[in-house]
Amino acid sequence: MLPVTLDRTSGEPLPAQLAGQVRALVLSGTLGTGDRLPSSRALAADLGVSRAVTEQAYDQLTAEGWLEARRGSGTYVTATRTPTTAVAPRVTSRPTRPTSRPTGATSRPTGATSRLDTGTPFFDPRLEPGWRRAWREVSVAAPPRGYDDPRGLLELREALAARLGRTRGLELHPDEIIVTAGTTDGLRALLPELRPGPVAVEDPGYRAAAETVLTYGREVVDLPAVETVGDLGDAVAAYVTPAHQHPLGRVMPAADRLALLEAARGADAVVIEDDYDSEFRYDVAPVPAMARLDRGRVVYLGTAAKSVVPTLRLGWLVAPPDLHELILRRRTITHAGAAWPSQRALLTLLRDGWLDRAVRSARRVYAERAPRVAEAMSPYATLAGPLAGMYSTWLLPEADARRARDAARVAGFEINLLSTYARSSGLTGLVIGFGGVTEAELDQALAALTGALAR
Ligand SMILES: Cc1ncc(COP(=O)(O)O)c(C=O)c1O
Repeated sequence: MLPVTLDRTSGEPLPAQLAGQVRALVLSGTLGTGDRLPSSRALAADLGVSRAVTEQAYDQLTAEGWLEARRGSGTYVTATRTPTTAVAPRVTSRPTRPTSRPTGATSRPTGATSRLDTGTPFFDPRLEPGWRRAWREVSVAAPPRGYDDPRGLLELREALAARLGRTRGLELHPDEIIVTAGTTDGLRALLPELRPGPVAVEDPGYRAAAETVLTYGREVVDLPAVETVGDLGDAVAAYVTPAHQHPLGRVMPAADRLALLEAARGADAVVIEDDYDSEFRYDVAPVPAMARLDRGRVVYLGTAAKSVVPTLRLGWLVAPPDLHELILRRRTITHAGAAWPSQRALLTLLRDGWLDRAVRSARRVYAERAPRVAEAMSPYATLAGPLAGMYSTWLLPEADARRARDAARVAGFEINLLSTYARSSGLTGLVIGFGGVTEAELDQALAALTGALAR
């Protein structure tokens, strides 16, 4: 019998309560690696709940890497606070230096009409009236006179705190949040406040993150994107996308999260969690934010780029107290921050429930499109991670990936090569975004890709 108690009067769904308590048992060491959990049927009987509750909680924890289901044998704990897996210290590449050309930049052809990229989310036309309402409100609201709070609009921070608690499991006071002009702006705010030293960035990884680190005169060291990291060398920070590795798609397993935090403590470094698209899971509930595990070590970066639109240029940053103070001090002096109209519009979108509706409708669309991409691509390429979010990444030899990319280009579609995200990892393939096109365009693009791959 597990020492858990479910509260039927709480607003939190029972599977989420159960998952949260099992997670806490693993984190506290009450449950250790290799411990076998009661079957979902036995636990359901013990707790007096339906089996669907225990199954859903086990599925969630398995997706997060806390548990492992062994066929015919049961469900076991795989992650504990002190990971038993051999941690692989691999800061692989030597620093990349700024070059005249941004890392991984590709020239964009003229004439390509639609982009199947990772940065264009679905926008539901039925939500347009709500969008216009938000901007009408901006037009009649009085902007603050003079420079406002460097943390951003208070009401927006309150709404964000409530939402991050509800959707990401982060319990925050509004004053702990700094509104930014997006993820990259959050990085720009953070980098000057870190002590001198290189920054480890996932490889393959988000090109804008590596480029921003270089822009701030720091070296980038390559952090293997899908391996356990047990040593950060002399890096002062490690930038990661734990909920949905960009662009390989994997969820960072719980044991790897704990190992990375341990490594960060050892190196006196911070973990930069880029939580860019975590709400777009269609199989299990969104994986909780890594920042929950150690608020003193993790700088959390959120963005409206995926759930609203990237052109809004809005995001939010939650940093440990010392860094928070330093960031705030510099933002006060430099007046860096997000534009008030964007903040005010996002406030309305949050208050009206618009953002929740937008996420739900985009999630439905992605859940329908992702398997379509998978069906078309799987005869020719290997899927790099679970199906989640608004893109999927396919491993292919570079020559095949280029041939397919070129064929799509001729048909009027721009698709990114995985090699442009890779530094020393040398991974190759295609990164196919499916948020920003219509159903018909997606089918045409897939036909062009698979036609080339079949040849
Ligand atoms: C990994 C990752 N992080 C963050 C973002 C969003 O960045 P920003 O908020 O600066 O627009 C993107 C957008 O494509 C992304 O792919």
